[in-house]
Amino acid sequence: MLDTKHAGLLAAALVLLPCLAFAQVSLEAPLGPVLAIGHRGASYVAPEHTLFAYDQAMAFDADMIECDLQLTKDGVLVCMHDTTVDRTSEGTGRADTYTLDELRHLDFGAWFNQANPARARPEYAGARIVTFEEQLACYLRHNPRMRFHVETKAPAEYGGRMEPALVDLLTRLGLVATGHQDIQTSTIVVQSFDLASLQAVKALAPTLPTAYLFSAPADPLIAAGVLPSYVDAAAPTSVFLRANPGYVGAVHRTGKEVHTWTVDDPAEIDALLDIGVDGIFSNRPDVLRARIDARGTGVDAAVRGNPAAFPALCQFPPDLSVADLALSPERVAGGDVVTFTATIANTGAGDAADVRVRFLVDGAPVGDDRMIARVAAGATATVTSASWLAKRQTGLHSVEVRVLETDAAATRPFVVQGNKLQ
Ligand code: G3P
Ligand code: CA
Repeated sequence: MLDTKHAGLLAAALVLLPCLAFAQVSLEAPLGPVLAIGHRGASYVAPEHTLFAYDQAMAFDADMIECDLQLTKDGVLVCMHDTTVDRTSEGTGRADTYTLDELRHLDFGAWFNQANPARARPEYAGARIVTFEEQLACYLRHNPRMRFHVETKAPAEYGGRMEPALVDLLTRLGLVATGHQDIQTSTIVVQSFDLASLQAVKALAPTLPTAYLFSAPADPLIAAGVLPSYVDAAAPTSVFLRANPGYVGAVHRTGKEVHTWTVDDPAEIDALLDIGVDGIFSNRPDVLRARIDARGTGVDAAVRGNPAAFPALCQFPPDLSVADLALSPERVAGGDVVTFTATIANTGAGDAADVRVRFLVDGAPVGDDRMIARVAAGATATVTSASWLAKRQTGLHSVEVRVLETDAAATRPFVVQGNKLQ
């Protein structure tokens, strides 16, 4: 049953519908700044849905990065277009028959080099799967203003599990209400070819904006530009819009946006900008950025906030510090054999490997340098010095620990009591 508002819209649409095909289409303005959306990253120059492609999308100053979602066997949302791994890896079979750990063993880059020899790069071979959480964490760390167009891909095949998994993740990361249902500001926009999926997402998270993907809408209301209440943008193919240029205005008159896909050709981009689209998905966000910037209708660069440089492939540097420096024994007497133990903390976002640590007493090294094989991001590791003899050392001393190759260091005074036979 239609409510009053939608009945009115339907009546307007029925009047409008015959006009759309024949109307002289006037230039339509976008509702806000036009979005450059990196389709599967910058997937023209790098293997889709890999860190290589996402890095390039950010380097090309995209407003948004796309992720097509699949669910692994163990329920993790990963960025993969196809429901099988066949096209983009050396594996075979459905993605949801693999655990995340199993997917991490597949190569999602080598296929690109074989398919695109002119754009091949040796380092693409061995590119790994990216989880949606990893995509969000990495690119929001680079740029808290980065935005994401995330697609529930083939959601019916996941039996209703994908939408709650998505909303749970976004809730945990504090990203559900970042735009308060405003598609022009929300960090996240959820897109789908499946209206039921969008309806489910909206029911779980009403503040998340949604976009409906289609090639040729069967529903006459949607064909006339009237979207369901739980959809905030139409996302038709560029082919549909070129055949129905008045569609953008029809959707705009309902207060909703039009995002279109997938457009790499500059002339076609220009034609779509002419008819007032609000966002374009492109495998070549550099080309798209240039066309939008040429007419000055995009998001202001300062608002986009993409950094000029950032750590490649989400390899954030570790950040090491000395959390503790202890002595054993704690009260040293002349004649004791003393060891010093340092706790090294890594508060950075990347793991630290082969950490070299030097202990010194009164500026003189205590034995050889010590090595810590690995300090994981967010973790600590302890390391103990060689022995230091307190014999004939009565009085005040200072022990220092230095993490070589960083400026992390700590010192601690200690006293050797002369109450043992020296
Ligand atoms: O999401 C926009 C566009 O990507 C839809 O097509 O098949 O590339 O996901 P597809
Ligand atoms: Ca997509």
